[in-house]
Amino acid sequence: MLHRLHAIQRDCLHISRESIQQVAQEFDLPIAQVAAVVAFHSFFHTRPRGRFDILFSNCTSCGYLSGGQDLLQLLCLQLQVTPGETRADGLVSIDETSCIGMCDQGPSLLINGLPITHLNDNKVVQLAQLIALETPLPDWPANWFDIHHTVHRRDWLLSGSPVPREIMLKALDIGRDNTLAILLQSGLRGRGGAGFATGRKWQLCREAPGDTRYVVCNADEGEPGTFKDRMLLTTYAENLFAGMALCAFVIGATQGFVYLRAEYHYLLESLQETLQSCRRHGLLGNRILGHSDFDFDITLIVGAGAYICGEESALIESLEGKPGIPRIRPPFPVTHGYLGQPTVVNNVETFIAAAHIVHSGNETFRTTGTASSTGTKILSISGDCALPGIYEYPFGVRIRQILDDCGAQNVQAMQIGGPAGTLLNPAEFGRTLAFDDVSSGGSLLIFGPQRDLLTIHRNFARFFAHESCGFCTPCRVGTQLIQKELDTIAEGRGSAYTIVELQQLARLVQQQSHCGLGHTAANHVLEGLHKFPLTFSSRLQPQFTARFDLDQALASARHITHRDDSAAHLSND
Ligand SMILES: Cc1cc2nc3c(=O)[nH]c(=O)nc-3n(C[C@H](O)[C@H](O)[C@H](O)COP(=O)(O)O)c2cc1C
Ligand code: SF4
Repeated sequence: MLHRLHAIQRDCLHISRESIQQVAQEFDLPIAQVAAVVAFHSFFHTRPRGRFDILFSNCTSCGYLSGGQDLLQLLCLQLQVTPGETRADGLVSIDETSCIGMCDQGPSLLINGLPITHLNDNKVVQLAQLIALETPLPDWPANWFDIHHTVHRRDWLLSGSPVPREIMLKALDIGRDNTLAILLQSGLRGRGGAGFATGRKWQLCREAPGDTRYVVCNADEGEPGTFKDRMLLTTYAENLFAGMALCAFVIGATQGFVYLRAEYHYLLESLQETLQSCRRHGLLGNRILGHSDFDFDITLIVGAGAYICGEESALIESLEGKPGIPRIRPPFPVTHGYLGQPTVVNNVETFIAAAHIVHSGNETFRTTGTASSTGTKILSISGDCALPGIYEYPFGVRIRQILDDCGAQNVQAMQIGGPAGTLLNPAEFGRTLAFDDVSSGGSLLIFGPQRDLLTIHRNFARFFAHESCGFCTPCRVGTQLIQKELDTIAEGRGSAYTIVELQQLARLVQQQSHCGLGHTAANHVLEGLHKFPLTFSSRLQPQFTARFDLDQALASARHITHRDDSAAHLSND
């Protein structure tokens, strides 16, 4: 259904009420369900977008550190468009979107779904001219659409080349139990953030009661500052599919899905071609490599712009054609996943690592990294450094080493693991990259001495307020309030009480929210208050003076309740 909706959005520039009814009929679903899916995703619109539909990435890297916000204003000025609106003649709409995974080559934008990177004033002016002349995108400079993957450091995983056939032959040769045993012994833990043991996850799924099992690859890569899966999906897709097939072999699944984020829609064609090639070579489909008992194929599903769909249960909801609202857990997907059946959900890097481990044995892997974090981790590095890009490190590497390698100097602070991750000050740069020290799904953002950390906190807060799915109150309201409090401080209207409120709010969101998004959305605030208190306190008013008459503010409440006694007034004492 998501693909049908994408097609309508592309052809009609919006999804009308009639289209929603038609899709509901085609898929035999309630109209309300289709309407809810449309409303849930930020890449679907019920009002027409421009024929050139532009979305500037507003993530910390592209929007603030690289100056994307100024370029957005420049383009709006050039084309006489109000941000967030479609120009009256329907030619163009310009808006912002969360991170599009191009942080190493920002500022960046999407135009009709295609990324353009390395923006600057000159390029933006040219872009405006091409749009004004209604030049079709295929006639734009072709190199504008080139996406580079700069890998600065390769280790165990990235120095290998794709060998899907050998991987599958090895697994078929040693059998299901031994394949699983290798994985269990390797100590491989999920690379998507939470770090659950991969072999154990496959084992739990295999042992769970159910008629059908599924393999799902989480290629939603929405954590701002992360772009390593973009490179893996481009360069290592064959090994990804081999990793998924291995999982299917172990757990006994016949169907797999790759849930690809909408921002990577441009990769769909090449991924389809790789899938076809795998089928031609007998690596997917019926009787894989002649094995009578092994059928497995993969379907690619493109999301529609919702960070929460990276959360595994929300992802499964979305796969099932529903809005991506996280489920109550337990039960976990390994027992009750897609269509209520046992399902393995793993990150792109995890599947590729599993394929490499099975192919090359787990000896090298196990002896790389630390005891609790075996192997290597691929990082996406951006921000204030000379060499942004992709780096693969053995777990256990010191943060200081990473900063030296990427040419980061006089670092004021860094954020590892995205806005939901960990904020580090220079005194902590001796810490190590590891699940039990500083862990990361892949993002590492560097902030030089010239950066205003409060602006960064506001950027993070805006991200969470925008991406909260709205299902539970602590997160839906709390993330908005956190954003508001930070704005208050930045605008010079904060008092010591604002900090107290901010702290209380942050704890409430952290403790009372329904899913991982809410649990982590306020981490950066709490860490910022603890590690960089001056960022906040230096902006406070020394003496609090109310900006409005508190008693007067209650006048309407008194009017409604027909009260005007002294207890209905605030005391002036
Ligand atoms: C808000 C939120 C967003 C997430 N986004 C992603 C994502 O983009 N990619 C990913 O692999 N895992 C993401 N995760 C983690 C997944 O829920 C899940 O733990 C992961 O896909 C499991 O794979 P792994 O064990 O290989 O890491 C996200 C979690 C949360 C709470
Ligand atoms: S914590 Fe936030 S994202 Fe998660 S269910 Fe609640 S509102 Fe949705």
